[in-house]
Amino acid sequence: MVVPAAGLGTRFLPATKTVPKELLPVVDTPGIELIAREAALAGASRLAVVTAPRKQGIMAYFDQDELLESTLAARGKTTQLEKVQAVNNLVEAVAVNQDRPLGLGHAIGCAESALDDDEDCFAVLLPDDLVLPFGVLNEMIDVRQRFGGTVLCGFEVPEEEVSNYGVFDLEEPAEGDDPRVRRVRGMVEKPDVADAPSTVVAAGRYLLDRTIFDALRRTEPGKGGEIQVTDAIELLIKEGHPVHVFIHEGGRHDLGNPGGFIRACVDFALNDDSYGPSLRQWLTGRLSADAVSHAVVSGE
Ligand code: G1P
Repeated sequence: MVVPAAGLGTRFLPATKTVPKELLPVVDTPGIELIAREAALAGASRLAVVTAPRKQGIMAYFDQDELLESTLAARGKTTQLEKVQAVNNLVEAVAVNQDRPLGLGHAIGCAESALDDDEDCFAVLLPDDLVLPFGVLNEMIDVRQRFGGTVLCGFEVPEEEVSNYGVFDLEEPAEGDDPRVRRVRGMVEKPDVADAPSTVVAAGRYLLDRTIFDALRRTEPGKGGEIQVTDAIELLIKEGHPVHVFIHEGGRHDLGNPGGFIRACVDFALNDDSYGPSLRQWLTGRLSADAVSHAVVSGE
């Protein structure tokens, strides 16, 4: 499986000047570890992490830290030791270098050399995207087993948000078919609202047929002057390659910007035994204080 993690993290500056956004903690666990957990759950043993030279901390996170572990063990800090060790045996992470930020499609293209010769299909997980609960990749693998080709993950957004995403043009499901699995007629990267073919957009999970590498080599820079994987997929569709979408109906958090990241932290913290109860209590008080001050301001 491939995790593109070479981006500059511009939406999260200034923190991302020195800390890769993939290492920012959702409660206490970096986003990259959550992605590694999801990949492991879907059966991955190896993760090709596409990074940039200035983001070496991401790979260091997958290295075992013997001094830290032995110190925690000697001090009897078992809970902390277990947390540190959790990542050790999840997956083997291998680094793939992307020396210039030329887009998501370019980053995926860089991973070709990291695949085994007999891997005719591979998954891409965007670490910005938490798709919850884990398990959507397994659904996508099932879809590929039925239809072959490429399988993407879609979710519904309000119309005014479509311009932030790759947007699908979908066939209607035949009667009796699972309405969550649809054939893709076309795909367009971040269209204007008026031009969007639907309100079903791409989440950051892709099950790509190996032919994508050939399509990426033939893909010109698109939106934002970058090589877009959306455009390479559109090219494959035009050439008759079967592409399906699995429509995810669960939750999703965008960890790539502070607003989405805060929601993810609150969501995870509310479910956490240590932090949940007191956070819930504090939030409730904070929100009712807000309601009171709003009433004062609006004269209600
Ligand atoms: C990327 C893809 C876009 C997809 C999105 C999902 O965009 O290009 O098609 O919908 O991820 O998060 P980005 O968010 O990297 O701009």
